[in-house]
Amino acid sequence: MNIELDKNRLPNHVAVIMDGNGRWAKQKGKLRVFGHKNGVHSVRETIEAAAEIGINVLTLYAFSTENWKRPKTEVDALMNLLVSSLENELETLQKNNIRLNTIGNITLLPLKAQKGLNKVMGLTIGNDRMVLNLALNYGSRSEILEAVKTISKKVVNNELEIENIDENTINNHLYTFSLPDVDFLIRTSGEQRISNFLLWQAAYAELYFTNTLWPDFKKADFYNAIAEFQNRERRYGKTSEQIKTT
Ligand code: FPP
Repeated sequence: MNIELDKNRLPNHVAVIMDGNGRWAKQKGKLRVFGHKNGVHSVRETIEAAAEIGINVLTLYAFSTENWKRPKTEVDALMNLLVSSLENELETLQKNNIRLNTIGNITLLPLKAQKGLNKVMGLTIGNDRMVLNLALNYGSRSEILEAVKTISKKVVNNELEIENIDENTINNHLYTFSLPDVDFLIRTSGEQRISNFLLWQAAYAELYFTNTLWPDFKKADFYNAIAEFQNRERRYGKTSEQIKTT
């Protein structure tokens, strides 16, 4: 790696919106599924790159609640790719001490995908170098909505006082309850949108948009993105001077 990175200033949690598989395939005169297949190589490169530099949590937006609207053949192909990737990558996850976690309602995924996910999550539960967090059938608004409902029920049942509801209460009712906030959010393919992804968790995230299409996104691209993160000044509402003196 010839990109200079400061190991003491890494984002703790990096989230990625992997976008552009379809356009990549179209540019090559191929079907969209060809783009997804090649996107899997970028998934692998990104996981390895993140683990190698010491990122603690990597969240990948693999399938949104809106993605069900795609043609059935494409949805089926994405689910099959997920299943085969889980089978193929288990060894790499174990070797690299990576724990698999999911966010989103996975009970609505095909049984084969659920089984594969539960198997790999179970087998990697003790791994502690990095959490690979796959967002599957995930939507941020519905996640927040469900949290509001659960919290409301606790209030109605006198298990919780309204005065005691704070940001931690909300955090603890999200799929990401055990994970830190997102520090850095990457989106490929030139689109500059958040697309219902980690809206609460990315409140203070630095955003990074690159024109590179997901299947072309490789280790060096990930490191370039991290280098850019390290050039940003995170102020959390304070002034630049205040940040420099703390
Ligand atoms: C976006 O490209 C990509 C997706 C909706 C899915 C990402 C899935 C993979 C990379 C493969 C399987 C995942 C795992 C975790 C093994 P797009 O189809 O929206 O591209 P477009 O915007 O150019 O149409």
